[in-house]
Amino acid sequence: MGTTAGMRRAGTVRPPPLQLVHLWILLLLPAPATAAVTYDHKAVVINGQRRILISGSIHYPRSVPEMWPDLIQKAKDGGLDVIQTYVFWNGHEPTPGNYYFEERYDLVRFLKLVKAAGLYVHLRIGPYVCAEWNFGGFPVWLKYVPGIRFRTDNEPFKAAMEKFTEKIVHMMKAEKLFEWQGGPIILAQIENEFGPLEYNGGAPARAYANWAAKMAVGLNTGVPWVMCKQDDAPDPVINSCNGFYCDYFTPNQPYKPTMWTEAWTGWFTAFGGTVPHRPVEDLAFSVARFIQKGGSFVNYYMYHGGTNFGRTAGGPFIATSYDYDAPIDEYGLLRQPKWGHLRDLHRAIKLCEPALISGDPARISLGNHQEAHVFNSTEGSCAAFLANYDSNSYAKVEFDGVHYDLPPWSISVLPDCKNAVFNTARVSFQTTLMKMTSAGAYEWTSFSEESTSLDSGSFTTTGLLEQVNMTRDSTDYLWYSTYVDIGQDEEFLMNGKYPSLTAMSAGHSLHVFVNGNLTGTVYGGVENPKLTYTGTAKLRAGSNKISILSVAVGLPNVGEHFETWNAGVLGPVVLDGLNEGQRDLTWQNWTYTVGLKGEALELHSLSGSSSVEWADVYPNQPLTWYKALFSAPPGDDPLALDMGSMGKGQVWINGLSIGRHWPGYKAHGSCSSSCSYAGEYNENKCQSNCGEPSQRWYHVPRSWLNPTGRNLMVVFEEWGGDPVGITMVRRTVGSVCADISEWQPSNWRIEDPGRAEAPRRPKARLGCSPGQKISAIRFASFGTPQGFCGNFSQGSCHAHRSYDALKMNCVGRERCTVGVAADVFGGDPCPGIMKKLAVEAICG
Ligand SMILES: *[C@@H]1O[C@H](CO)[C@@H](O)[C@H](O)[C@H]1NC(C)=O
Ligand SMILES: *[C@@H]1O[C@H](CO)[C@@H](O)[C@H](O)[C@H]1NC(C)=O
Ligand SMILES: *[C@@H]1O[C@H](CO)[C@@H](O)[C@H](O)[C@H]1NC(C)=O
Ligand SMILES: *[C@@H]1O[C@H](CO)[C@@H](O)[C@H](O)[C@H]1NC(C)=O
Ligand SMILES: *[C@@H]1O[C@H](CO)[C@@H](O)[C@H](O)[C@H]1NC(C)=O
Repeated sequence: MGTTAGMRRAGTVRPPPLQLVHLWILLLLPAPATAAVTYDHKAVVINGQRRILISGSIHYPRSVPEMWPDLIQKAKDGGLDVIQTYVFWNGHEPTPGNYYFEERYDLVRFLKLVKAAGLYVHLRIGPYVCAEWNFGGFPVWLKYVPGIRFRTDNEPFKAAMEKFTEKIVHMMKAEKLFEWQGGPIILAQIENEFGPLEYNGGAPARAYANWAAKMAVGLNTGVPWVMCKQDDAPDPVINSCNGFYCDYFTPNQPYKPTMWTEAWTGWFTAFGGTVPHRPVEDLAFSVARFIQKGGSFVNYYMYHGGTNFGRTAGGPFIATSYDYDAPIDEYGLLRQPKWGHLRDLHRAIKLCEPALISGDPARISLGNHQEAHVFNSTEGSCAAFLANYDSNSYAKVEFDGVHYDLPPWSISVLPDCKNAVFNTARVSFQTTLMKMTSAGAYEWTSFSEESTSLDSGSFTTTGLLEQVNMTRDSTDYLWYSTYVDIGQDEEFLMNGKYPSLTAMSAGHSLHVFVNGNLTGTVYGGVENPKLTYTGTAKLRAGSNKISILSVAVGLPNVGEHFETWNAGVLGPVVLDGLNEGQRDLTWQNWTYTVGLKGEALELHSLSGSSSVEWADVYPNQPLTWYKALFSAPPGDDPLALDMGSMGKGQVWINGLSIGRHWPGYKAHGSCSSSCSYAGEYNENKCQSNCGEPSQRWYHVPRSWLNPTGRNLMVVFEEWGGDPVGITMVRRTVGSVCADISEWQPSNWRIEDPGRAEAPRRPKARLGCSPGQKISAIRFASFGTPQGFCGNFSQGSCHAHRSYDALKMNCVGRERCTVGVAADVFGGDPCPGIMKKLAVEAICG
C-alpha cells in the first residue's frame, strides 16, 4: 500500500502500534491507491514526508478577489505553507438549493490562487464556523426548517449539514483540488469547537459528534479531517487546539499529531469594545513553546482578518473591521514588526524541521523557570529550544557546555543545538506606524427616511412579534407601530406631567417615535444585547401614534442553541402615569413594516438613487439617506472612509455595501499606553481606543471604484451626524522605527571564549513603502532611550551625534541601514552601560 510505504519512509522513529495504524488508514482512506496525505503521531504526512506546517487563516469573503493574489503572496513570503479558511454556508446558499460561488464567494478561484502560489489549504467546511460571522455561517432560512435544532442529534439538521458538506466536497473533487488530485487541500475540518457544547449536551450531543465525524470520513476526501476543540474526536479524526497558547495540549490518541488550528494573533473588535493588540514577542513565544513540545502544525487565526462587508458581521455587535491585529492588516498591508518577526521565526523553525520530524523532544531543566527541549535524532540532526518562562528577568543558562542569555518570557531557537539563530523577544524588524491622510471630501444631498412606517407592505396583528422571524434577516430594520387613545380628561394634559413609556427589547438597538418625533435611542452591547427603553411620551388628547424602529446588528454566531435567541421588541411595552395608572400596550394591535423605505427604493444603487428627489443637507437629522458622487483618488494606496462625524448606519459604494458604520459607539475598556509583551496574554491585556469610536475607518476596496468615471456613495444614518465631515482617506506608512540593542547577547563557548563567533554587530534597518522616501528623523537616540515607536524619549544616556548619523544615512532615501555601535554616533556616551538605538523616521 502506497500509504504504508510512505509511512515507513517518514517513520524514522518508533511507529504507532501497527494494528492501530491499519485501523485508521482503512477508515480514512478507502481508496489508498490515490491517497497522499496521512498522519502519524509526529506530523501530517504529505507524499510520504512528515511536515512541520505553518498555516494562516485568510477568509476569502473578508477581502475581495482582486486582493487575493497579493494576500496569498504575502503569506508565502511570510513563511507560510498552508492557507486555512472556513467555508461560509450562508454566503453560498442564500436560499435553499440556490447556490452562489461568485465574486467574494468564489471559493474555487481562491483555492486555485493558493495552489498557484505553491501553498497548501486547510479547508474548514464546518459548516458551523462561528468566526464572528453572521449566524455562525448558517443560513437564516435553516432556522425555519420544521423541527430543526442546530448542532445536535436532529434529523433535519443533520440532513442539511450533510447535504452542504457533500456539495462542497464534491465541488472540490470535481475541480481536482484535493492534494492526491494535484490540488492544494491537505486537510479538512468538520464541525467547529463543538467540545464545550458536547460537554453540556449529553448523549444527543455525543451522538451528533460521532455522526459528524463518520459522515465526513465517509466522503472519502483522501485527506485527514480535523475537529478543533473536540477532546473526544472519534478516530480517525484529529482533535486540535485553539487558543492564545496550546503547549499544554496533547491529542486524544498517541498516534495523532499535535495540531494548533487557531493560534490567535489578536482578537476581534465589537462595536462598543476596544481594539485589542497582541505583542508579536508573545505570539512568537507561544508558537515556539508549542513547537518545542512536539507540535507540528500551527495556524495563525487570523493571518489576514479583513472586513465584514455588508451585513456579514455576527455577534451581535461585531464591528465591520475584522482586522484582528493580524500580520497582514485589514487593508492588505504588512503589519510590522508582526509579519517580519514571525517570518524570522518560521525560518528558524524550518531550519529545525529535519530534527523536529524525526523524534520526540527531551526536556532538560536549566533553572527554576528555564528549560531546554532537545530534538536529537540518531541520524545526526539536532535542534534545541531554550526557554525562559520568567516574565520579569533575563536568564543566563548553560546548555551543552555553552552559555546563552535569554530575555524574559522568551525562547531561543538553535537549529543545530549550538547557534541561537532566533529569540522570540528580540525583534530585529522595524516597526511601522500607518497614517490615514485625506484624499477628498464630498458634496452631499439628502433624503429623509420618514419617521413613520411605510404603509404598503405592512400588516397588523395583535401583540409583539419576534424580529428575525419577520425580517428573515433581509434587513436590520423592523418597524413596530401602535395607536394610543388619550381622553380629554387626562390629568397630564393639565399639569404637564407626561406619562412615561417603557419598552423592553431582546435587542439589539431601537429608536422610539411619538407622533413622528424621535424621543429616544437605546442599544445593547456585546455582553448583553437586551435593552429597555424608558422615556417621556408627550402624548396629546385623541389618537397618538407610537412607533419603534428595532434594529438588529448582526445575528449571534456562538452560544448554546444561539439559533433560538430572539431579537426585537418582545415587550412588555407600557405607559405609566395615566389616570388609570398603567396601560399595557403589549397586547394591542401592532402594525409591522419590514425594512426601510429607502431600502425598498434601493437608494443605495445607481438606479434607485436616481428615482427620488434629493434635498439639501442639514446636520444631525436622524434616519436620513445621503448621497455623493465622486472620482476615485489616484494611486493604489488602500482607501477607507473616515466616518468619525457620523453616528450609526450603513454605507454603500457603487451599490456595494462596505458594512455597518457605528463610530457613535465609543469603546469601553481599560487601555494603557504601553503594553509589556512578557507574561500570559489575554484579549483584555493590550487594548486601545478607549473613549474613542470602536471603529472610525471603513475599508473601501479599490476594485469597487471606477478609476476614471464617477462613483456613487450612499450613507444611511440612523442617529444624526454631519456627512460633510466624511472624508476618503489613504492608508500609507507614516513612520518607521527601529529599537535595537548595541550587542545581541549571543552564545559563547565556555571552554574557549576566544573561539566564539564574535557577537554580530547589529544593524538598524529602516525602509518606507515603495515610492516613499524618509523625509525626516523624528527621534534618534543611541544610549538609554525609553518608550515605544511613536513615543520615544531620551534617557539619561544619549550620544550627541545620534541624529546626525541617522540624518546623514537615511534622509532622502527609501531605505537605509545604520550600525548600532558607539563609533557610529561619535563615541560611547556611557561606557559600561548596555545601550540601544531608538529611531523614528518619517516617511513622506
Ligand atoms: C545528541 O546526541 C549525541 C549522540 O548521542 C550526543 O553526543 C550529543 O551530546 C547530543 N546533543 C545534545 C544537544 O543533546
Ligand atoms: C414566525 O411567524 C409565524 C407567522 O407569524 C408564526 O406562525 C411562527 O410561530 C413564528 N415562529 C417563530 C419561531 O417565532
Ligand atoms: C414634534 O415635532 C413637531 C414638528 O416636527 C413639532 O412641531 C412638535 O413641537 C414636536 N412635538 C414635541 C412634543 O416635541
Ligand atoms: C385589531 O385589528 C383587527 C384586524 O387586524 C381588528 O379586527 C380589531 O378590531 C383590532 N382591534 C382593536 C382593539 O383595534
Ligand atoms: C509618551 O511617553 C510619556 C513618557 O515618556 C508618557 O507620559 C505619555 O503618556 C506617553 N504618551 C502616549 C500617547 O503614550
